[in-house]
Amino acid sequence: MNLLDYPRWPLLARESILNVPIDIRSTRVNVEGKVIDYGSDIDSVVITGMGGSGVVGDIVNDLCWFWDCRVPIIVSKNMRLPRRLSRPLVLAISYSGNTVETIMSAEEALSRGYPVIGITTGGKLSAILSSKGVPVILIPKASAPRYGLPSLLYPTLIVLERFGVVSVTNELERGIVGMEKALRAVDEASKLAKELVNSIPVIWVPESRRGVGIRFKNDLNENAKYFSIVSVIPEGAHNDIAAITTSQAGLRHVVISGSNDFESKYLDAVVDVISSFGVKPLIVRLDGSTPLESEMYGVTFLGIATLALAHLLNVEPVSTLPINKLKEELDRRGLFTV
Ligand code: PA5
Repeated sequence: MNLLDYPRWPLLARESILNVPIDIRSTRVNVEGKVIDYGSDIDSVVITGMGGSGVVGDIVNDLCWFWDCRVPIIVSKNMRLPRRLSRPLVLAISYSGNTVETIMSAEEALSRGYPVIGITTGGKLSAILSSKGVPVILIPKASAPRYGLPSLLYPTLIVLERFGVVSVTNELERGIVGMEKALRAVDEASKLAKELVNSIPVIWVPESRRGVGIRFKNDLNENAKYFSIVSVIPEGAHNDIAAITTSQAGLRHVVISGSNDFESKYLDAVVDVISSFGVKPLIVRLDGSTPLESEMYGVTFLGIATLALAHLLNVEPVSTLPINKLKEELDRRGLFTV
């Protein structure tokens, strides 16, 4: 099986943080007569992006269930920014730099006078932001956006530290340890993949690991070209779980949690109830001694499992033709122009 960029993930994490400008907080830009001062205090962080780039927001949101994040993190996956923001920092993340939703959100943020930072390999996002003097963190390329995750996530964490939102210096290396552990667990990931052949995976995750669940679903969609469902606990225990009483063909239940997660005892109860209806879920434990380590173990391990599944199904993992076609179609219709 070809692991594509996964073996480079520890390196990508280390390399990409070097591109965060030391003096980012001294930036001042003038957009349409409005001075945006990056040294001013912020009261929220909006992370805007789609798919393999947008998942960075979900991961940061997970981590803030564990870390003492100073301001709320708002994950935005739309062409517009949420209304009624007061003093946000806006991180516009697009691997290609050509995703219309992210570019439109960044432009809206600037027109509203918010500090924006772009994280990208280049594209229109980089060109538009740079032309206005807005900081852009350029990251190394990978085979496709989702395979460049550490290059998108690690600079984000550094930026959050520079803005006093989190304190991550001791955590960054633990995250890399998590990736390295997962890279040594390829056989186990392949075993999980075998269990998923000919199924629709139902992924059960606690709220504090929503990002791991979403990332696993996205990787199943894009790498293995598989549909799957994510049920986030406790909410899913008030609706999804009711569907367990009928034996719908082809579902395969996967429960993901870290042993120290706040909701783990709740999840154990969910597993017992599911099992009492004759369903035997697969259990994936997120290995790690810190939140970032177990999170990175999870996204790396499960991502590799989806590559193994693609391999078993003889599916080409990198290309995502319908996504490309939709991007072209949106462009052709000129509905959302940047
Ligand atoms: O992983 C992928 O290829 C996609 O989910 C992309 O990330 C998504 O289409 C957004 O593109 P980009 O990350 O270039 O902004």
